[in-house]
Amino acid sequence: MPHLSPPPLSLYVHLPWCVRKCPYCDFNSHEGRGPLPFDAYVDALIRDLDHDLPLVWGRTVHSVFFGGGTPSLFPPEAIDRFLQEASARLRFVPGCEVTLETNPGTAEHGRFELYREAGINRLSFGIQSFDDGSLRRLGRIHDSREAEAAVKLAQDAGLDNLNLDLMYALPEQTLAMAERDLERAFALRPAHISHYQLTLEPNTVFAARPPSGIPDEDHSWEMQEHCQALLADAGYAQYEVSAYARDGRRCAHNLNYWHYGDYLGIGAGAHGKITLPAVDDVPSARIFDAHARSAGPAETLAASGDRVDSDAAQDPGGIILRRWKQKHPARYIADAGTDAAIGGDDPVTPERRAFEYMLNALRLVDGFRLGEFIARTGLAADDIRPQLETAVERGWLEQDGNRLRPTELGRRFTNDVIALFL
Ligand SMILES: C[S@@+](CC[C@H](N)C(=O)[O-])C[C@H]1O[C@@H](n2cnc3c(N)ncnc32)[C@H](O)[C@@H]1O
Ligand code: SF4
Repeated sequence: MPHLSPPPLSLYVHLPWCVRKCPYCDFNSHEGRGPLPFDAYVDALIRDLDHDLPLVWGRTVHSVFFGGGTPSLFPPEAIDRFLQEASARLRFVPGCEVTLETNPGTAEHGRFELYREAGINRLSFGIQSFDDGSLRRLGRIHDSREAEAAVKLAQDAGLDNLNLDLMYALPEQTLAMAERDLERAFALRPAHISHYQLTLEPNTVFAARPPSGIPDEDHSWEMQEHCQALLADAGYAQYEVSAYARDGRRCAHNLNYWHYGDYLGIGAGAHGKITLPAVDDVPSARIFDAHARSAGPAETLAASGDRVDSDAAQDPGGIILRRWKQKHPARYIADAGTDAAIGGDDPVTPERRAFEYMLNALRLVDGFRLGEFIARTGLAADDIRPQLETAVERGWLEQDGNRLRPTELGRRFTNDVIALFL
């Protein structure tokens, strides 16, 4: 079996509070009541990072993403302190992309300059729509005028790498309304647009009481195709199911997820994925285990040692570890930096890796290279040959040398293509 190679590493930081919970949202976000404990949370983030650092000794961070929740609720001083502490512990690649998710309803004069000075060089705005009726139905805290003003404030502060999140297939939305949302987004000239179809996620208010007038599947597909064409005409090239960018402005952080890269997940409910290659032909699960009991040179893995199950230890090529943190902010703050803050550790067995890889890579318009599949999963090309042949025969994937790319048909039936690798 080929050995795993460590892929690029990103850092995800989850900031879990919002002004108000949106009825469609299933992210780990909590309505903040009273003053929020920003300082205590940043302290907890730093303890959490210290606890996970042994998993990534010596590696360089290629991107940072503050996601939420509403990270823009955090004062710039808190973001600055976290980034300073993080850069004292981790090496960041020069020009590292550092994104902060921003709710337009939290924008204030003077804030964006301070975020930029703290090291933020990309903002992702949760706009959703520029139609005030739609914004109300979505329970948003801002209107379209505030959304436009927030984006302009950021641009005036010298931040030019901006993403706007829009959703389509909204309650009562027509094709013309979806088109107008895009036109108002284009007028702001963002570098990137994320265009998501509204989904009714389990355990949300919308799932329990679906709003009226949600476009059906055919109508949503028609909207998507029409909007894709408008985005392309306006200079936004699609590179993933929901992501469109001007030249050179693709999101490095999300690309790393879709290429099955590694990421540390810090913060309440954050998920991480880390590749631990075999060292000198010793399976990393065994290294993990040994470190749990000794205080040798790579000893710092100790905290994780007894969490790795014996299946993973059978894998001679190294292991891929998924780790997530306790979700509730107050418990997270209390426990961060100890094993009690770890919600779970799950080594990805070789049998699951092809499916996980495809779940990510087949979202990309350019698909993937077989060499990358081998390096990132530790599997051989022969392990997925029959599934690839089926996908090509059905017209879902096309092969171009060592690259496999979803066709238009494959993009429409992404779930069926991915299911071949289960
Ligand atoms: C974690 S949210 C962060 C943005 C920020 N909290 C805000 O809402 O302003 C990221 C994006 O996911 C999208 N999103 C959230 N829930 C969704 C759903 N149920 N269906 C489709 N897109 C959704 C929204 O466009 C949202 O801006
Ligand atoms: S503001 Fe964003 S994260 Fe918060 S509840 Fe709304 S969609 Fe979810």
